[in-house]
Amino acid sequence: PLPEPFTVPLPIPEVARPSGPGRYEVTQRVAAAEILPGSRTEVWGYGGTFPGPTFELRRGTPVTIAVRNELPVPTSTHLHGGVTPPGSDGYPTDLVVPAGHSTRHGHPGEVHHQVVKDYRYPVEQRAATLWYHDHRMDFTAPQVWRGLAGMALVRDEEEDALPLPRGERELPLMICDRSFEEDGSFRYPQAYSAHGGAHGGMHGGMHGGDWLGLDGDYMEGVEGDVILVNGAPWPVAEVAAARYRLRLLNASNARRYRLQLTPGGRFTQIGSDSGLLAAPVAHDTIPISPGERYDVVVDFSAYPVGSAVTLVNTLAEGMQRNVMRFVVTRAARDDSAVPATLSRPPRRPRPVATRTFDFRRTGESWTINAKPYRPGVPLARPRLGTAEVWRLTSDFHHPVHLHLAHFQILARNGRAPAATDGGWKDTVDVRPYEVVDVLARFDGHRGRYMLHCHNLEHEDMAMMADFEVI
Ligand code: C2O
Ligand code: CU
Repeated sequence: PLPEPFTVPLPIPEVARPSGPGRYEVTQRVAAAEILPGSRTEVWGYGGTFPGPTFELRRGTPVTIAVRNELPVPTSTHLHGGVTPPGSDGYPTDLVVPAGHSTRHGHPGEVHHQVVKDYRYPVEQRAATLWYHDHRMDFTAPQVWRGLAGMALVRDEEEDALPLPRGERELPLMICDRSFEEDGSFRYPQAYSAHGGAHGGMHGGMHGGDWLGLDGDYMEGVEGDVILVNGAPWPVAEVAAARYRLRLLNASNARRYRLQLTPGGRFTQIGSDSGLLAAPVAHDTIPISPGERYDVVVDFSAYPVGSAVTLVNTLAEGMQRNVMRFVVTRAARDDSAVPATLSRPPRRPRPVATRTFDFRRTGESWTINAKPYRPGVPLARPRLGTAEVWRLTSDFHHPVHLHLAHFQILARNGRAPAATDGGWKDTVDVRPYEVVDVLARFDGHRGRYMLHCHNLEHEDMAMMADFEVI
């Protein structure tokens, strides 16, 4: 039985505690969670929770996160938005394999770490809202659906100096949809989960037969009918009549949202995927596609004490239109402010090349430049320290994500981008038949990275490519 919306309190994920200086240990394991009140859901979680713990990172303080895999399946962890060396970036065939798991039918070039892998993050990047999730070849969608995702916040001195809302008035909000069986377990299309165990899978046509990819019903990705925020269905949060900083993340496999406050109100955007904007921008609605983040401030003192302020998704009807609710329970002092100047983001460099990446369905699979994903075969070799214009074209909504590189949106269909497109980003929703030009910087590390559609079913259906920074 689904709960009445806005009855379950909004949970805030635990903050990960280091096990030593600059070191964390997190175990991926099967655990039971009470997501729908009164029933039990098996989750696959970092630390056994869904969402996993929030990592609080500081610019200039490198960390190592040892990920131990006690699940029945291999995993690969990607820090989304991280400027990470290639060996720790969660390459899809760079796997942490659980004890006793057979690796006989792997992909060519697959790397196996037995049970545990140390992921090293230099954290030489601006303050930003990042997140982490599973990235295993062919199985990212079902494994994230089962719970393998969490948030990571990078902080720095530039941000510390700002009078933004903090502490209890800073809320990470991981929004995603799920469906449930009668017994409370997650419901995911059967053809997929039946393969979820030992089978390795292959790209380039092998997604055929009974694979989810070819069932027309899921060609557009899998959506759930229950909207979760921080793992709770349509939750409610009590707030003071004051400013709150909301770190919005769309962690859904395929669902897009256009967020709006009811009965009205504005979001003051302070940051995009890759950090603070130069100056705040007010929006009535925020479109957010899978993988994107919006860092916003909402001033609840604009509402009378006692009022309910609902976050809705105007792209959906019925129950799915609801996301969560804030109830303004008390007057309170508020020393926070949103200054007119937030940061000095890196300037736009001059591009040295232009390339086109076409995101399109080719026959029975989703492809980039008509090629289904093949690990180890880069479609581009940008040079370290340069910038390029990447032209993204598409036949459908494809939220395109680049690993390593941050970009600015230059144009949509040759015209100026939307007000919500500002700042440095790592994910952009390319809309049906749209041409989006982005200016991407290849900084930090040489090596093998990827670009892909962040509709996770599309990703698993081969809409992914390598690029190599040389
Ligand atoms: Cu959030 Cu390659 O993904
Ligand atoms: Cu897509």
